[in-house]
Amino acid sequence: MSSFVLRGVSVLGGAPTDLFIRDGVISSEAPDAEIIDAAGLVALPGLVDLHTHLREPGREDAETVETGSRAAALGGYTAVFAMANTSPVADTAGVVEQVWRLGREAGLVDVQPIGAVTVGLAGKQLAELGAMATSAAGVRIFSDDGFCVADPRLMRRALEYVKAFDGIIAQHAEEPRLTEGAQMHEGEVSTRLGLTGWPAVAEEAIIARDVLLAEHVGSRLHVCHVSTAGSVEVLRQAKARGVRVTAEVTPHHLLLTDELAASYDPVFKVNPPLRTASDVHALREALIEGVIDVVATDHAPHAVEDKECEWAYARPGMVGLETALPVVLSVLGERWELIADRMSRTPAKIAGLTGHGTDLAVGSPANLTLVDPSARRVVDPAELASRSRNTPYAGTTLPGRIVATFLRGVPTVLDGKAVK
Ligand code: DOR
Ligand code: ZN
Repeated sequence: MSSFVLRGVSVLGGAPTDLFIRDGVISSEAPDAEIIDAAGLVALPGLVDLHTHLREPGREDAETVETGSRAAALGGYTAVFAMANTSPVADTAGVVEQVWRLGREAGLVDVQPIGAVTVGLAGKQLAELGAMATSAAGVRIFSDDGFCVADPRLMRRALEYVKAFDGIIAQHAEEPRLTEGAQMHEGEVSTRLGLTGWPAVAEEAIIARDVLLAEHVGSRLHVCHVSTAGSVEVLRQAKARGVRVTAEVTPHHLLLTDELAASYDPVFKVNPPLRTASDVHALREALIEGVIDVVATDHAPHAVEDKECEWAYARPGMVGLETALPVVLSVLGERWELIADRMSRTPAKIAGLTGHGTDLAVGSPANLTLVDPSARRVVDPAELASRSRNTPYAGTTLPGRIVATFLRGVPTVLDGKAVK
């Protein structure tokens, strides 16, 4: 196994130093190492995404485990959690093991499958949570993402079930009766455009219910893609009471607003929808404070025919793996400790993922990414490694370039290009 020295690198924004990688781990020396000139570059622990849609099995025309893994590596990720809304749904040990195996074969990031909470994401009966947990994939996080586990009794049962093995229910918080026919955020812009609105309260009501259920059961709840200022307040109160709840925000909800829907370009259609500037402000503050624990991409690749059509018929979702860190850099600035915490350390901790999100001390597995913060890049959809092109940032200049990524000491990205 080859060894590397990252010469003159800044670890998490600290003074320039040499970082040695040998036999897959951070080392105090590495004889005969390949030298990488890392002057001006920042090393972060490899990013960990708790919310990625890889589309395999079923929609390999939109993404595969391999193409999504490559996009992840290029975005600085070393681990991603693959959502269960595939076809067939990842609601059995067989399907989660298939995804897990495909991830290992691609070998570009650690792919950890998320299991469905209910059979077929239909919200009617619990899936085989225990069988998925004890499978080779070792599933710890369960989610019906794309759909809300709307039935409170089923949600309670799911929380009770996973408590035995310290599992997590990751909720897509959307009260379905309040969002029937919804096309975008309900507010001034939706009124102006005459589009059916998705009210903030549809998210907030489910989060309020679920933190109470999690508190009652004493179990762990994770809230996917928090998008409103009101949700932040519900989470703040729950955390103050000691409820075992964690939450994520997407890069797009930290940057973009519902005004973009006025273009009628479906690239801006996403679920939950883009909200108002004051929501964006509250989400940023919550992330800095830690009321929102992590950034997760909700990378949602869609084939051209599902996206380049009339707004009402377009599928919701945007690709995000390759632009997440640049977007977060543009929002937070070069606060490397904060970025490492919200994009690597805390997501790894929430998921119980060892070897990722480390402090890059000697002996740690060499899962890391090298960023050039001085670079600027105009996002070109044609250059994305993802099989889909539905980025909302086409033509936008974003700061930061991922120069290299290492998975257990093996480079997956070098010179900003995928190694395989
Ligand atoms: O915008 C979204 N796209 N939100 C979801 O909850 C699901 C996702 C998808 O699977 O495309
Ligand atoms: Zn979702």
